[in-house]
Amino acid sequence: MKLKLRIWRQAGPKAKGAMVDYDIDNVSPDMSFLEMLDMLNEQLTDANQEPIAFDHDCREGICGMCGVVINGIAHGGSATTTCQLHMRSFADGATIEIEPWRAGAFPIIKDLAVDRTALDRIVQSGGYISSNTGSAPDAHATPAPKRESDKAFDNATCIGCGACVAACPNSSAMLFTSAKITHLAMLPQGQPERYRRVKSMVAQHDEEGFGNCTNIGECAAVCPKGIPLESISQLNRDLIKSLFKGDGK
Ligand code: SF4
Ligand code: FES
Repeated sequence: MKLKLRIWRQAGPKAKGAMVDYDIDNVSPDMSFLEMLDMLNEQLTDANQEPIAFDHDCREGICGMCGVVINGIAHGGSATTTCQLHMRSFADGATIEIEPWRAGAFPIIKDLAVDRTALDRIVQSGGYISSNTGSAPDAHATPAPKRESDKAFDNATCIGCGACVAACPNSSAMLFTSAKITHLAMLPQGQPERYRRVKSMVAQHDEEGFGNCTNIGECAAVCPKGIPLESISQLNRDLIKSLFKGDGK
């Protein structure tokens, strides 16, 4: 495949950025999107030019590190992570625009790499449980009913990639925050700090500069893990209840 790439280049957080055009040839349709960027970077390095900075780690759709806006859609619109997107999704001869996540709470570090530590601080503000691990549970024990444990698991699959923020016109991280809240709210271990947690995590979300949720739904449309809007409803229900619960349970 022969492609035209238009990529956001920005030397540093304070530098002025711009879209820069590149031509690339001999791209295999079986390459992943990141492998295609690796190939371009090899060409740039061979030509003594600065390679393009982009985030990645597992390249298996697990870690949440990768993520760019491709042709205006976070992760490219295939409801998968950028590392799991393959070049066969594009037509030979296509022009592909590649930009970083754009949100005030995700400052650009360089080129396509952004600082997503705001999401870590939301988790640090309450996305944990405080309990003794104790001894190994009985193999037949069912501490959570199937429906709740399934819901907890589904929400636990959020990988913190930040695509929901990049897709939201308000740059809200409510889908991410609601996945963390719902995951723990469904489990017995999450109950002691349940209402303190939701208050604290939503306060941190706002402090980081993420916008409010206005139920647009772009977040769920691009989420590679299928976190549903219903999780935001769960967060809102818990947040309202927390107002009547004092500081603890
Ligand atoms: S909710 Fe989905 S899009 Fe948002 S951070 Fe989690 S996995 Fe990524
Ligand atoms: S590199 Fe880990 S999810 Fe894409």
